Amino acid sequence: MRTVRELEELRGIIAGWRAEGARVALVPTMGALHAGHMALIETARRGGTKVVASIFVNPRQFGPSEDLSRYPRREAADARLLTEHGCDLLWAPGVETMYPDGFATSISVSGVSDGLDGAARPGHFDGVATVVAKLFNQVRPDIACFGEKDFQQLAVIRRLVIDLDMDIEILGVPTQRDDDGLALSSRNIYLDEGERARAVALPRALGIAARAIGRGEDVGAVLADAGTTLTAAGFAVDYVELVDAESLAPNPAADRPRRLLAAARMGATRLIDNIPVE
Ligand code: PAF
Repeated sequence: MRTVRELEELRGIIAGWRAEGARVALVPTMGALHAGHMALIETARRGGTKVVASIFVNPRQFGPSEDLSRYPRREAADARLLTEHGCDLLWAPGVETMYPDGFATSISVSGVSDGLDGAARPGHFDGVATVVAKLFNQVRPDIACFGEKDFQQLAVIRRLVIDLDMDIEILGVPTQRDDDGLALSSRNIYLDEGERARAVALPRALGIAARAIGRGEDVGAVLADAGTTLTAAGFAVDYVELVDAESLAPNPAADRPRRLLAAARMGATRLIDNIPVE
């Protein structure tokens, strides 16, 4: 697998693939790769597609008090994992390539970006939408794969692609979990042993709440119970919310696809998770 850092070289390689009639899939990441990312690579590879993974820790999606400087960076190990899983090319631009001097554009996807993590992390989804639009323009993929774990991010990207007439198929890939149910995340490595043990309360509380809502119990009471359970487990809860699975609007009708989303901090580590309500 080749690692490429210059846009001209990337475009040359992809033009060569296109000349051979290949389809191209993109898996955008910020590195610190784990089995969740490898599920994205496996999905991207289906049908003999050429697979580009990008690693770029995007400063524009981190708030001033967030973990940009300590975000795990381990490109050599990531590159080995990508090679083992059949990725064809690693696109790893530097900040100066992505945001050269004078860079002045920001993409804002209103509506789906506004609540939940958009409210808790102002500007976060503008940073995501801007970098993803750039990655799409750089790689020009036919397909791009994103994890359902970042459910709101996936909704923002689907809206971006529709609104800007980007001819890219967006594939959402189900969340990969540890044996006890905790969603895989690059940030899980921040958790110490005790925090990791308590963190399992997050998927468990979501599972209990989703089943109760599915049985028709009072949504407000169920969400309040989930918040209480998480607090008792040591989480500081940002939100536990039931939303429409497509628009992410609150208070969805029971006959619509619904999704339960939560964000909560365990010590210094902010975790997110979500689950469908059947
Ligand atoms: O999900 C991520 O890792 C990032 O938000 C993404 C999509 C690569 C954009 O920086």
